Amino acid sequence: MTFEKLENIEKEVQQCKSCPLFATRNNVVFSDGSKNAKIMLIGEAPGADEDKQGKPFVGRAGKLLNEFLIMAGISREEDLYIVNTLKCRPPENRKPTKEEKNACGKFLYAQIEIIKPKIIVLCGATAMESFLDKKFKISKVRGQFFENIEGFKGIKFIPILHPSYLLRQHSTEIGSPRDLTLKDLIMIKKAVLE
Ligand code: URA
Repeated sequence: MTFEKLENIEKEVQQCKSCPLFATRNNVVFSDGSKNAKIMLIGEAPGADEDKQGKPFVGRAGKLLNEFLIMAGISREEDLYIVNTLKCRPPENRKPTKEEKNACGKFLYAQIEIIKPKIIVLCGATAMESFLDKKFKISKVRGQFFENIEGFKGIKFIPILHPSYLLRQHSTEIGSPRDLTLKDLIMIKKAVLE
């Protein structure tokens, strides 16, 4: 029943023309992973590969995310429900506009309400700014849990660095962005799965 609602929302998204991105999309990118997941991961927006395949995080950044998930012992298929702030690709991979995020937000909020995750991982600054104080710097607040966010009682939010950023940061030394991200993911797994 609940998941039927999710299917209805997906059908609605397929028809959505609430913002101009419908005109340039090849595919809507609705979600990936498990509807029973306790962790929801929210990225920025679909890129070229995601737009082609209709699935989030399947390009270079997605492959790096997969590697980190494996290292942290988190199953992409069973432990995560993966979405983005937008369901359609912004041209040239530019950042989503406020109007696009507002237009798409109703679908994202409906997904959160149905999936009822215990933890929402805000992957990158764009996802973080959709839920937390816009003045926050992701480099400062990554790896911290935020609770009592208005409208999302009972859900813990945690920002992490975006894998697109990690693609440009190769060091795995202690304290490097890659090292910190792995530690954040291990902490998330511990918080919810053990
Ligand atoms: N980057 C994102 O934020 N989301 C995707 O789905 C792919 C790349």
